[in-house]
Amino acid sequence: MSLFTRAVVATTAARPVERLITHTRAGRAVADRFVAGQSLRDGTEAAERLNRRRMTVSLDLLGEEVTDRSGAERAADEYLEALDAIAARGLTANISVKLTQLGLAIDPSLAAGAVDQLAKAAAEAGTTVTIDMEASAYTADTVDIYADAQSRHGNLGLCLQACLYRTPEDLDRLMPLGGHIRLCKGAYVEPPNIALQTGREIDAAFVRLLTVLMRSEGVRPAIATHDPVMIKMALDLARERRDGFEFQMLFGVRPDEQRRLATMGYDMRVYVPFGSAWYPYLTRRLAERPANVWFFVRALFGTG
Ligand code: FDA
Repeated sequence: MSLFTRAVVATTAARPVERLITHTRAGRAVADRFVAGQSLRDGTEAAERLNRRRMTVSLDLLGEEVTDRSGAERAADEYLEALDAIAARGLTANISVKLTQLGLAIDPSLAAGAVDQLAKAAAEAGTTVTIDMEASAYTADTVDIYADAQSRHGNLGLCLQACLYRTPEDLDRLMPLGGHIRLCKGAYVEPPNIALQTGREIDAAFVRLLTVLMRSEGVRPAIATHDPVMIKMALDLARERRDGFEFQMLFGVRPDEQRRLATMGYDMRVYVPFGSAWYPYLTRRLAERPANVWFFVRALFGTG
């Protein structure tokens, strides 16, 4: 992780900074760029627009680190509503869930139960569930819950982070289960005993994992990156691949590149976050890229 990323993570963790971002027009302007809106309707309308442009969608109800059972149950209910909306509106979309939003930090069995319920409802809606990968404190439980649910339901996928030392082993364990594996670089600051620290090392790990995934059979690679070098690498590997795969990018990030890949005929899925709990998601987007921080600073001083 770069010094810049660490500095942004430390700064945005401070309460006054959170207030500055969540209570100013400038903060909301940045959020508007990366978040489809506050309501499920905002999310499904964004999904309809993307579907019309031949892109599929993963709907993400914002929220994480839920600390009470009722909050976790409410999140599961809202995801069930999202699945109903996907079926009712005929959207080409699935859902992306964070296990701490479904109660993982309170009781792993609560999150596992919710994943079960969502996988069944997704199957009825003719779609899938992707499990996001969060900070490393939750990796082991997340992998176990995914492996258990995927082996019983068969319509799930999991995000794996190239930065973690454990990921190659997780990939070996999970590939025989089928489903889809979303490969990303990793958005959390992690300690050196468990994770690669420099961008160069993480990029090299991403390429190694991408190569394994693209040469695999039976599992659908979901290549989650905006990095032109990684996209080019994936396109090269795609020439030898017979089975399907997809690119994934975040709502509001490189929309021209999203359209370009979709127009070229590649499967392109856009991760569409919606909901009111947007602050932690936004801090990760700011930490990824200096240009996003400058966008906020310019908006704050009215020069954007
Ligand atoms: P990175 O930030 O490394 O940038 C590399 C290069 O890409 C840049 O130098 C630039 O050339 C180009 N680039 C990047 N952003 C650009 C922009 N806005 N405009 C122009 N060029 C740009 N993480 C996680 O820990 N758990 C998860 O579950 C997920 N889920 C997830 C889903 C999806 C669909 C995506 C796309 C990403 C995630 N991530 C994630 C986030 C991921 O781990 C990572 O933090 C970000 O995608 C940033 O890494 P990139 O590989 O996109 O490029």
